Amino acid sequence: MSLCSTSGATVTVTPLTTAAMAAAQADARKRLEGLEAQAKERKEVGLPLDRLPDLSDEGAREGQYQALLIHALAARYTTAWSGIEGSDGRVYSCGHYGRYARIATLFIGVSATSSDARAAEDFGPVKAMQFDAKKAALGKRLFFDKRLSSDVAISCATCHDPAKGFSDGLALSKAYPGSEGFRNTPTLINTAYKAAWFHDGRLGTNLNDVTREMITETYMMNMDMRLMQERPKQDPVYVQMFKDAGYGEPSNGSVRKAIPEYLKTLSSRGSPFDKETMSAAAKRGFDLFKGKAGCAACHSGPRFTDDRPHNTGVPNNPDIWSDPRRHVTFVTYAMFMGLENYFNIRRDPGAHVRTHKADGSDVGKFMTPTLV
Ligand code: HEC
Ligand code: HEC
Repeated sequence: MSLCSTSGATVTVTPLTTAAMAAAQADARKRLEGLEAQAKERKEVGLPLDRLPDLSDEGAREGQYQALLIHALAARYTTAWSGIEGSDGRVYSCGHYGRYARIATLFIGVSATSSDARAAEDFGPVKAMQFDAKKAALGKRLFFDKRLSSDVAISCATCHDPAKGFSDGLALSKAYPGSEGFRNTPTLINTAYKAAWFHDGRLGTNLNDVTREMITETYMMNMDMRLMQERPKQDPVYVQMFKDAGYGEPSNGSVRKAIPEYLKTLSSRGSPFDKETMSAAAKRGFDLFKGKAGCAACHSGPRFTDDRPHNTGVPNNPDIWSDPRRHVTFVTYAMFMGLENYFNIRRDPGAHVRTHKADGSDVGKFMTPTLV
């Protein structure tokens, strides 16, 4: 099935089978019933719905069902959303929403019946970002440099690969050699526009801090910052580039400034959506997206996200718990986050690590991702 075309190649995915659709529909129905039960319980004890959807009318119920269905399909149907393999064997990432709109058209078209979902009118394009060219060029060299990881095996680009939309095309990310990740690698396109980073939104300061976390975290690049700054000092090209960028001698602080400067250059501009040259099928998909299918309740705004956490009901990938190389990474994370009983947790807590709600209603919520 052809989704979109980049550089002349047709992008195809395996056709959906009836069995896969039936299983996804069953998942979505079960999840919808779960949400209804939760809402009922809250109403009975007089609690506000908080962020639970109001499912009292048929339209809202149908919109929610469609959203759950597309996420259930996403979980089954593609190994990861971040890359779709083209007929030429390369992995493609189409501009703003092209492939998602079509996926939505294909899937949602199957069962959409009523309409009552919220429409948001403030979609893209994103505004251009100002950046300093010399600092960004230095940041780019650092981004692709394996010397930033302690055993010189991985760079930022190992996981955030430009050929795969600055992600990796994997369902769960890699990690520091010897271990494996427990979440998927988000794209870095438009990341400089965000105010809270990571799937759980746990870092709400700036990209300088996010960069530090990526470099120093034991399961990421496992690097000591004092050692890290010595490495560029050994390379005359870096010495010159740091100087030209106005940073003086290479230092921990300037690495953490230069990489975010490069990240500012990664924005999604000029897609058919931005230029209003979408095909008729994509336009129909967009109508569903902001209408009947209810996607825009969460995927709204110029980056197609409300920057808030939600529980979409997609189950965790079982490999996190069955593969010890992934489990150990999760345990390390959970321990650093101060979660109790971290050896026994069998569910990614998501936004709970940031909001710590006593009733646990934030467990399993993740930040709405952008749809570039
Ligand atoms: C081993 C794989 C890996 C490497 C190497 C890596 N990242 Fe990441 N990156 C991830 C994963 C996985 C996440 C999501 C983590 C989470 O949600 O807990 C992430 C999240 C991010 C985010 C937040 C994105 C968002 O939308 O919230 C940024 C920014 C980022 N990485 C930048 C970098 C930079 C810069 C480097 C190099 C210094 C780097 N990453 C190295 C895997 C990696
Ligand atoms: C209730 C809020 C909500 C609604 C409604 C919603 N989404 Fe999502 N969407 C999310 C969240 C949150 C995630 C991340 C899920 C996770 O990490 O488990 C997500 C993930 C996705 C992804 C994967 C993106 C990636 O890079 O991994 C796609 C594609 C997507 N949604 C498309 C849609 C479409 C199409 C619709 C409408 C049919 C829709 N969504 C409706 C909140 C929502």
